[in-house]
Amino acid sequence: MTPGPDLLIKNVTLPDGRIADVSVADGVVSHIGAGLRADIVIEGNRRLCLPGGVDMHVHMRGGPQSEKETWSSGSRSALAGGVTVVIDQPNQVPPVRNPPSFQARREEAERESLCNFGINGAVRPDADIEGLWRAGATAFGETFAAASSYGEAVGYDALAALLRRIRPLGALVTIHAEKVREGQDVSLSVHNALRTGTGEAEAVSEVANLNPEGGALHFCHLSCIHAIDAACGSIEVTPHHLFLSYEMFADSDGRGKVNPPLRSEKARKKVWSRWERIDVIASDHAPHTRSEKNGAFPGVPSGIPGVETMIPLLLAAVYERRISLASVVEKTSSTPARLLGMKAPGCRPGCRADLALYPEEPRPVDPDALHSRAGWSPYAGMPAVFPDIVLVSGDIAFDNGDFSGNRGAWLPGRGYLGDHTQK
Ligand code: DOR
Repeated sequence: MTPGPDLLIKNVTLPDGRIADVSVADGVVSHIGAGLRADIVIEGNRRLCLPGGVDMHVHMRGGPQSEKETWSSGSRSALAGGVTVVIDQPNQVPPVRNPPSFQARREEAERESLCNFGINGAVRPDADIEGLWRAGATAFGETFAAASSYGEAVGYDALAALLRRIRPLGALVTIHAEKVREGQDVSLSVHNALRTGTGEAEAVSEVANLNPEGGALHFCHLSCIHAIDAACGSIEVTPHHLFLSYEMFADSDGRGKVNPPLRSEKARKKVWSRWERIDVIASDHAPHTRSEKNGAFPGVPSGIPGVETMIPLLLAAVYERRISLASVVEKTSSTPARLLGMKAPGCRPGCRADLALYPEEPRPVDPDALHSRAGWSPYAGMPAVFPDIVLVSGDIAFDNGDFSGNRGAWLPGRGYLGDHTQK
């Protein structure tokens, strides 16, 4: 006799609108339909059940930057926002540029992370690209074709050579493309003028021209329609470029400082007109503390925390009937998993049981209720739909504010050759 499921979620609304029970065994969805008996039963009460989010652009910090975020606080923040897989970016201190630094990052995450995770390798002239791929890097980048926080710009000649090296591996390369003018960065409007949307679009086209035939390019955090229209390959947009403009902040307020910059309200609204073209929504979760963000503008680090609010803000837009639920699931879960060559979480038999249950009513974002060490959010008061229960690999990881404390798993990249390569 086949053993029954370990866990049963009764009576939930699936992404396609069906109401069913979801059975989970050995970390995987085993059955959808009328559920069997199980050791653990969750009453769904017709709540929405969605696959966990795969946030392919998260800066977890940690190490010497643990004041900003740790894997422990950042992964709690991810789970409380329905994200069950985060992909950590390599512009850490120290940068993830070779197998030993990759291994150290992996061990730090394995000790602390409560959600599943992947780790990207750096694209810089001193990076051991092939070694990082064999060590299990998920993808390469965020590649800084323009300088940003903790990321030095890679010149175009060096970038072209690195793209040629990555091409035979078949790995995805993610790009931060911008043009940065010289000038004193004194306010949000000046920040926007020094890193314009048209400059971003030019940089996107120039980097696209460096890409060897067949190379998989992914443009990170495109902030305006000019850049989106100039891009080839896959396109990522962040919640902050969808929900925020610099006009929503006082001009001297460093909390709105991010690269690429927040644009005008008019430009922000136009980004929504490209919803169908956007492949991925990723948070670019860049936790800098409240006190750092409140400093004098020129010295304020760029970046906005957002892993916890990304899916909740998008679901509120779904509840307001501005976008479809299917498009949100695609852009925050199935498409990033596919681009990264990962098994997608999902509400179908055989999928990893990374699942989240959502209530029927939005509630306003309360920055004090969020879990990032950054300790602030630019989305205060905006409607959001936060999950109340989240499963990671079939286990309850988050239940109405409580975390089980179970560790998440490292999801190795496609080039991983096993632990012997690390030694
Ligand atoms: O504003 C940003 N901050 N943009 C990036 O691309 C990097 C990020 C960070 O690492 O803090």
